[in-house]
Amino acid sequence: MVTFTLNGQKVASASPDDTPLLWVIRDELGFKGTKFGCGIAMCGACTIHIDGQAVRSCSYPLKQAQGKQITTIEGLNDSHPLQKAWIAEQVPQCGYCQSGQIMQAATLLKYYPSPTDEQINTHMNGNLCRCMAYHRIRKAIKRAAKDTETIVNNGVEIYTPNEQELS
Ligand code: FES
Ligand code: FES
Repeated sequence: MVTFTLNGQKVASASPDDTPLLWVIRDELGFKGTKFGCGIAMCGACTIHIDGQAVRSCSYPLKQAQGKQITTIEGLNDSHPLQKAWIAEQVPQCGYCQSGQIMQAATLLKYYPSPTDEQINTHMNGNLCRCMAYHRIRKAIKRAAKDTETIVNNGVEIYTPNEQELS
C-alpha cells in the first residue's frame, strides 16, 4: 500500500508499485484533470506537482509517491492568478494540454515572479501544445505574474489546495 497526500487529503493505493502515478490519480482516485499525452515524459500533458516540483506523472512510478505532497490541477484554487489569467487571455483552444501548461507555469512563477520571455520559454519548453497556443500561454503567464509577485515575495505558497477539497 502506498500512501500520499493529494490536494490536501490523505489517499492510498494498492496498485502495483510500478503503476504510473497518472493512472492512479485518474482511474483510482478520479481526478481527471491531468491528461495522458505521450506516456514517455515528452509532452507535459500529465504534469503535476510533487513536493512543489513539476513532474511528469505518466513516468513516475507509484512507489515513489510514498509520503509525498502531490497537487493536481484540481488542487489549484479557482481564484489562482494563473486560472484567472488563462480565462482573461482565452488561452485554450482544444484545451487538452492546458492543465499541464498551468501546472508547469505555477512552478515557474514560484521561482521567477516576474519572468522574462526567455525564462518563460526555457521553463515551458517541454510542454507541447498541438493547437499552437504558445503566444497566449506566454501572455497569460505575464498577466498572472503581476498578480502573484506580491504573494510569492511574501513567501506564501501560491498553489495550495482549495478549501472544498480540504474539508
Ligand atoms: S503524457 Fe506524460 S509527458 Fe506526455
Ligand atoms: S490547446 Fe489544444 S493542445 Fe494545447
